[in-house]
Amino acid sequence: MSLVQTTPQRTVAPIHDVGIGLRSPHYADIERDKPRVPWFEVLIDNHLNKGGAARQHLHAIRQDYPITFHGVSMSIGSADPINRDYLTALKQAMDEFEPVHISDHLCWSSINGQYSHDLLPLPYIKKAVQHVVERIQQVQDMLQQQILIENVSSYLQYNMSAMDEWEFLAEIAERADCYILLDINNIYVSAFNQNFDPVRYLKAVPTERVREMHLAGYEDQGTHLLDTHSEAVHPPVWELYEQALRYVSAVPTLIEWDNDIPDFSVLQQEAHTASKIMRKVCRDAA
Ligand SMILES: [Fe+2]
Repeated sequence: MSLVQTTPQRTVAPIHDVGIGLRSPHYADIERDKPRVPWFEVLIDNHLNKGGAARQHLHAIRQDYPITFHGVSMSIGSADPINRDYLTALKQAMDEFEPVHISDHLCWSSINGQYSHDLLPLPYIKKAVQHVVERIQQVQDMLQQQILIENVSSYLQYNMSAMDEWEFLAEIAERADCYILLDINNIYVSAFNQNFDPVRYLKAVPTERVREMHLAGYEDQGTHLLDTHSEAVHPPVWELYEQALRYVSAVPTLIEWDNDIPDFSVLQQEAHTASKIMRKVCRDAA
C-alpha cells in the first residue's frame, strides 16, 4: 500500500537555509532578540505530555519561527511493539505546533519497554529492512505524515550484516516511502570508526528522498571518534558537507549542539559558515 495516497500531507511553509537546534539555555535570548535564524529544530521528546515554562517558551518561539520536530524515542528498529502512547502524544504536539516535518533515527533504543540512552545501529540484513519498513508505515499511518529517518553514528558492525549502511538506508526509505535526514557528522564518524569512504555513502543515497542534513561536532578519542555534539563542526565534516551538497542537493541544514552548549552567537557563527558553503555550492551549480 502506498502511503503517498493514504497519508495527507500538511501544508506548513517549507524551511530553507541553515537552522539551529533549539536548546533551553537560549530561550530567553531568542525571545528577546529575535535573531535572524530561518528555523529551529525542537527536541520534541522534552516537551511531550508537559506544560509549564518550557512549553510556553516553545509557543512563544513558534510564533516567530518555523520549527521541525526531532525525536529519539521512536525506536523504529526495536522488537518491541510500536509505542502508541508516544505517537499519540507526538501527534497532539504536531497538531498544536504544526512542525514542518518530524524526524527520528534509524536505530533501536528500547527493548522490553526499557529505553537506552544510546541510538543503537541495526544489522544490515533484509529481515531488518522488512521489519523497519513495516514499522515506519505504521508510524506514518498514525501520524498521517511521512517522516524523516536519520542515519546514526556507529562504532561496530554486526557480523551478520549483508549490506552496506547506505544500501540499508536507501532500501528502507524507498520501500517505506519516507524521507531521509542525512547527518553528515554521523557519516564521517562511522566512516572513520569503520574505515569506509564517506563519499561512497553520499553517492549511494537516493537524493530525492533527502529533506534535511545535520552538522555537529565529534570528540576525537584517538582510536575512534565519539559523536558527542559537544564541539564545533570539525574541518573534515565541513569538507564532507560541501561534497554532500554537491552529490545530494542543497537541502535545509541544521547545526546540532547538545553538550557543553555555548553562547547562541557561537551557533549562529556555525550556521553562517554552513550557509556560506551552501550558497557557494548553489552558485557553482547555477
Ligand atoms: Fe543528527
